[in-house]
Amino acid sequence: VDETYIMIKPDGVQRGLVGEIISRFERKGFKLTGLKLFQCPKELAEEHYKDLSSKPFFPSLIEYITSGPVVCMAWEGVGIVPSARKLIGATNPLQAEPGTIRGDLAVQTGRNVVHGSDSPENGKREIGERL
Ligand code: GTP
Ligand code: MG
Repeated sequence: VDETYIMIKPDGVQRGLVGEIISRFERKGFKLTGLKLFQCPKELAEEHYKDLSSKPFFPSLIEYITSGPVVCMAWEGVGIVPSARKLIGATNPLQAEPGTIRGDLAVQTGRNVVHGSDSPENGKREIGERL
């Protein structure tokens, strides 16, 4: 069965959105198979977002992800990798459709509440490394 890695970012935890976000995945019909609250070390945040290391916003992204605890989760279900990305919505919350997590709950790209793996391979790898 397909699986993906979902991480509620520090703003989502600080704003009390953990239950809301978990509910959306549960109501969709996906199955929670792993969960932990985790303070991400700087080195792991840099590794997680290494593809973006040359971007001007990279230092602020690392500061953001390490600014407080995150919730690391493994979820499974048919077609979950692209479906989770749809539930999450576009990277820039102002372009995310209403009804999506970012579209309903966020306004800034740099505070966009949740991460979802972008491929089945990355999903497996991220679950293996974090949970
Ligand atoms: P993730 O699920 O977190 O990987 O987001 P994504 O796949 O929708 O976007 P991407 O992988 O391209 O970027 C990773 C994260 O970097 C985004 O979710 C944002 O938090 C941050 N980010 C991307 N682009 C920008 C930007 O232009 N400015 C800022 N401040 N942050 C950005
Ligand atoms: Mg991404």
